[in-house]
Amino acid sequence: KGRRSVLVRAEGINPEIRKSEEEVVDSVIVTELSKPLTAYCRCWRSGTFPLCDGSHVKHNKSTGDNVGPLLLKRQ
Ligand code: FES
Repeated sequence: KGRRSVLVRAEGINPEIRKSEEEVVDSVIVTELSKPLTAYCRCWRSGTFPLCDGSHVKHNKSTGDNVGPLLLKRQ
């Protein structure tokens, strides 16, 4: 646990997953959603958590990280 907290401070929230991508964004297609698109935060910095409010952009710029939201899309 102690090692993980050191990695987060030194390299951002994502130390190794899909680092070649500008932002790690995943989509899930579902058939029943009230809204056509819902974005869930995966950077833990959203002011509207668990929903994404775009705060990951500032986090990525300041840390060099590449985190992005999980997108739920209505089919
Ligand atoms: Fe956290 Fe967008 S604000 S992923």
